Amino acid sequence: MADSLTLDEFLARVAAFSAEARPAIAAADSADALEGVRAKYLGRNHGWLKDLSAALGQLPKEARGAAGKAFNDARTDVEGALETRQASLAPSSAGVALADPTMPARHAWRGAVHPVSQVIDEVVAIFRELGFTVALGPEAESPWYNFGSLNFPADHPAMDLHDTLYISDDVVLRTHTSPVQVRTLQSYPPPIRVLIPGNVHRRDPFDPSHAPTFAQIEGLVVDEGISFADLKATLTHFANRFFGSTKTRFRPSYFPFTEPSAEMDVLCGVCKGSGCGVCKQSGWVEILGSGLVHPAVLESAGVDSERYSGWAFGMGPARTALARHGIPDIRLLYDSDVRFLDQFAR
Ligand code: DAH
Repeated sequence: MADSLTLDEFLARVAAFSAEARPAIAAADSADALEGVRAKYLGRNHGWLKDLSAALGQLPKEARGAAGKAFNDARTDVEGALETRQASLAPSSAGVALADPTMPARHAWRGAVHPVSQVIDEVVAIFRELGFTVALGPEAESPWYNFGSLNFPADHPAMDLHDTLYISDDVVLRTHTSPVQVRTLQSYPPPIRVLIPGNVHRRDPFDPSHAPTFAQIEGLVVDEGISFADLKATLTHFANRFFGSTKTRFRPSYFPFTEPSAEMDVLCGVCKGSGCGVCKQSGWVEILGSGLVHPAVLESAGVDSERYSGWAFGMGPARTALARHGIPDIRLLYDSDVRFLDQFAR
């Protein structure tokens, strides 16, 4: 194949390449048309460029230097013309942006902390200032830790298959974070001040006020001489810090693991007490359950209930987020719809 082409013939082809490509580029009147011209004259796998490269190989060796230079010059020249044309076709979009600097910027999503996680973070931060540390426990739990150690009677309805998800006879998905009270007391001697955030599971269908899996935050204080005054003062301080100074009230309640037991309400943040949909017209929103740790719970964990006493509480940060923002349906917190969640981004 070599030597079957002369230098003059090759240069004539290069000249033809330039002579044909340049007017084609000038005539291309759209980006698409220009792309077609690029493929035809500069495409790597077919078209003019490929043919010329192949022809280079058919030249006598001594002609190849001059031929190669002419070829490269022509190619650079055509590439330059193509780029110039491209720039002159493109200004439509750049031109508009420059002509109208008042056009709104495109919206970009920003990552943000979920409203339920915001509540958990804030609660933990407030109690941390009071000397509490954080403790965690397993979500797959033994029925003894979840119920028995917490003074649930053997026939308590919470243990029913209707309410609790059993993985086996010996393992349940914990229905509350309270079992971590006993685990913590078994691992550390008093004095204890811990906060226990975590997910819990119940056999509840999703509805506007229930989710089958939800977060809880448990608190536990055990020391010598702890009384209901400590509980009330600490939780009232917490409510004022978290909600901004507010009114609280404690209502008597019942839990197997506390005696006495109380639920704490705060003034409804949406209507400030006058009554609205969020507080079901009562003016108050229930925030947490609490009480003095039942001596039987201390004894389950091997703590001397004659010497030590304690108080505990449990709250649902999702419910708290609903009350705080006046959100009507708990399922909105689980849908991961950024249009909803973006309202709470900070
Ligand atoms: N474990 C309770 C529940 O899930 C909440 C609770 C109430 C926790 C009172 C406590 C407490 O520590 O003292 O409904």
